[in-house]
Amino acid sequence: MSKPMKPWALVTGAGGFIGHHLVSYLKAAGYRVRGADIKRPEYSGTDADEFMLLDLRELKNCQTCTIGMDRVYHLAADMGGIGYITGSHAGIAYNNSLMNLYMLEASRCNNVERFLFSSSACVYPQGLQTSPDVTPLREEDAFPAEPEEGYGLEKLYAEKLCQYYMEDYGLSTRVVRFHNVYGPLGTYDGGREKAPAAMCRKVACAPNPGTIEVWGDGKQTRSFMYIDDCVEGIHRIMRSDYREPLNLGTDELVSVDELAEIVITASEKKIALVHDLTKPQGVRGRNSDNTRLRAVLQWEPQMTLRKGIAPTYHWIAEQMAAAASVEMSVTGASVAAE
Ligand SMILES: NC(=O)c1ccc[n+]([C@@H]2O[C@H](COP(=O)([O-])OP(=O)(O)OC[C@H]3O[C@@H](n4cnc5c(N)ncnc54)[C@H](O)[C@@H]3O)[C@@H](O)[C@H]2O)c1
Repeated sequence: MSKPMKPWALVTGAGGFIGHHLVSYLKAAGYRVRGADIKRPEYSGTDADEFMLLDLRELKNCQTCTIGMDRVYHLAADMGGIGYITGSHAGIAYNNSLMNLYMLEASRCNNVERFLFSSSACVYPQGLQTSPDVTPLREEDAFPAEPEEGYGLEKLYAEKLCQYYMEDYGLSTRVVRFHNVYGPLGTYDGGREKAPAAMCRKVACAPNPGTIEVWGDGKQTRSFMYIDDCVEGIHRIMRSDYREPLNLGTDELVSVDELAEIVITASEKKIALVHDLTKPQGVRGRNSDNTRLRAVLQWEPQMTLRKGIAPTYHWIAEQMAAAASVEMSVTGASVAAE
């Protein structure tokens, strides 16, 4: 008797941080995987069986990559850290609206069996996040709506699109609200990096002893989820029967100053913090209420921030050391040629 065919999974955003890790996770879990992105992964090769370089702001490209797919994990997005998402409302809203609409429509046309949308904690009302000692956010708190401008509003709209496609067309959708994901192979420079990676980069390039700049007064709070927990959570949610939006994050609340101290400890350097109050800091406090996640999956993210930051810091420090040594050898070569 012939073996049943392995199911096909499409990961959009497979050239990015979470998508790249998800491709490897799904391959190891026995799927055939197609990646799609406008760029290849920056820091390593991909484990995908197929990788399509496509601009997903075009419907025809979304249709091309969804042909023959059983499951679609839609992670592609124009996004970045707080500096990027507060400074680019129109571009983010335009790019992400097109990708989300077209990916849903193409998945419907190509009879995709399940579609997972990567939403964000930025959908939650800003009025509920005004204190560092924030009450953890429950899924039902998203309405009445007052999301983060641009990025958060667009994510909330796409969540509703998933609901409409499920109600009107029977497309089986899953919606995951990520809370700050970090880990090796994430963007750490160029302006799109998020707080943990930015902090690791600053500490790695600071002299010892030295100082680093922290945006805001450092008392703003967040929770941070390690990448391995993130991809496992995505896979569990896709396989579950739960169709409403679900938080995926940890509920280990830390201030940005505490995050910096954890990174400094991992570096074994002596670094002091200098606060820049003119820089954007986002909402004052944000945490994930995992009550529903635990009830649905009988599981929640496991990794503590202290444990997860160590490999993240060392990966970023190694990348920076390697880049510096390439630069030195190039400079040395050009000096020698003069
Ligand atoms: N990383 C986090 O902390 C976090 C938090 C909340 C939500 N999310 C969501 O998770 C998803 C993945 O995030 P990530 O951290 O891996 O981000 P990322 O920026 O590393 O990856 C996103 C990928 O989307 C691709 N992309 C952008 N525009 C495209 C286009 N027009 N066509 C094709 N591909 C395009 C990018 O090239 C990139 O590789 C995103 O939807 C993001 O909004 C992430």
